[in-house]
Amino acid sequence: MATAKMLFPPDFRWGTATAAFQVEGNNKNSDWWVWETQPGAILNSHHSGLASNWWANAELDLDAAAEMGTNAHRLSLEWSRIEPEPSVFDEAALERYRAILQGMVDRGIEPMVTLHHFSNPLWLVEKGDFNSEIVLDYFGRYVSKVVQRLGDLVPKWITINEPMVYLFMRYLDGSFPPPQRPGWGGLREAFGRLLACHARAYHIIKEAYRTAEVGIAKNMPIFEAKPGSGVASRWWAGRVDWLFNKAWMGAMVNGRLPSPFGRGTIPHLANSFDFVGINYYTRFYTTFNLRFDWIEHEWPAGTIVSDSNYGEIYPYGLYRVIKSALPYKKPIYITENGLPDAADKLRPAFILDHLRQVWQAISFCFPVMGYYHWSLVDNFEWDRGWTQRFGLISLDPETQARAWRPSANLYQEICRSYSLSSDMAATYAPEMLAVMFPGEAPAPVHGW
Ligand code: BGC
Repeated sequence: MATAKMLFPPDFRWGTATAAFQVEGNNKNSDWWVWETQPGAILNSHHSGLASNWWANAELDLDAAAEMGTNAHRLSLEWSRIEPEPSVFDEAALERYRAILQGMVDRGIEPMVTLHHFSNPLWLVEKGDFNSEIVLDYFGRYVSKVVQRLGDLVPKWITINEPMVYLFMRYLDGSFPPPQRPGWGGLREAFGRLLACHARAYHIIKEAYRTAEVGIAKNMPIFEAKPGSGVASRWWAGRVDWLFNKAWMGAMVNGRLPSPFGRGTIPHLANSFDFVGINYYTRFYTTFNLRFDWIEHEWPAGTIVSDSNYGEIYPYGLYRVIKSALPYKKPIYITENGLPDAADKLRPAFILDHLRQVWQAISFCFPVMGYYHWSLVDNFEWDRGWTQRFGLISLDPETQARAWRPSANLYQEICRSYSLSSDMAATYAPEMLAVMFPGEAPAPVHGW
């Protein structure tokens, strides 16, 4: 059988993604470390503990990432490690981050660094974090320090990871720390502060390194009215899409706070991003209701849902969100995409089908420059603890033993060849052959 291929550009970034608190271990000055000890906060009372042991030995997984053929990795810095007490910077921690970043560069893996990925220093939370004006100066100082010490190794930066997820989980849902929940009023205020922090970080980085690329990682689900629901639900789906997906992006474009998140302009915010980072996982259905519930928790019959009911697998949604980001007229990176799948039953097809959407977009000359799979190795999944396994590489947190899942081998073939092929589909996910390469499927396909 001939091999049919979907080829990617030679400068494409093949990456994986992680976040500090989820992989480093022993982040004892972080708000999440304390949150973990609250009864009921984490599923099955799991603890991050050593996590994936990156603080001691990130190099082990970086070797694997290099072996896999990746040329990029997105990781985050733990602010509470770098600044364990207000204005006290830990030089040894900065040195360790330098060593990790240098280790990436030496392995041919380009670093993309996130400055804020959900976790905060405990002392900052005590001072009111994003509900206090002081966060701006503290964040600015932290970013300046980091840029001064690590900036020469970092061509790509993410200022804030998934601001809307952070805000909703923390202020409304309650699955993120701290226990006090100031509700909508607190959320509105923090929305503006996060944007202001982003703008400040953007300009600090650009002043030091004019050519650095700086953006955000925006979680962009598809929101759609539940099939069969009426016009009110379609209207509501549009509102939810605007609130969750578009309001933040619009503010970064025009520098203005949108209603209902506030009013007025934020200094230096307009056009403060060089690329759009898309974290894409799933599609949510909505139905209009007077409780203004956001999303349905049941799926229409026939929907493929990943393990632990994490979400629908909807690869075409990735193409749709890429399209929705075209009006921003910036390069696009898929900064996260993955699924929990301990048994690796769905992941090979998931990877092939999502990357097919990326390939399709690139074929239409949409500027998608890279893809960072979440995640390289199993890690501590926030309030879901160790119950969800997103890694290409599996990890036993007790023994720290690792094993490549079949998906890691598949990703290796993809990254090394800059392509998706009918051979890969036949080997790793035969059900994808007819979908992706109809002419190559064993059964004849009738048509033109
Ligand atoms: C977050 C990651 C998280 C992943 C999987 C994203 O929302 O940025 O930290 O682990 O989703 O749930």
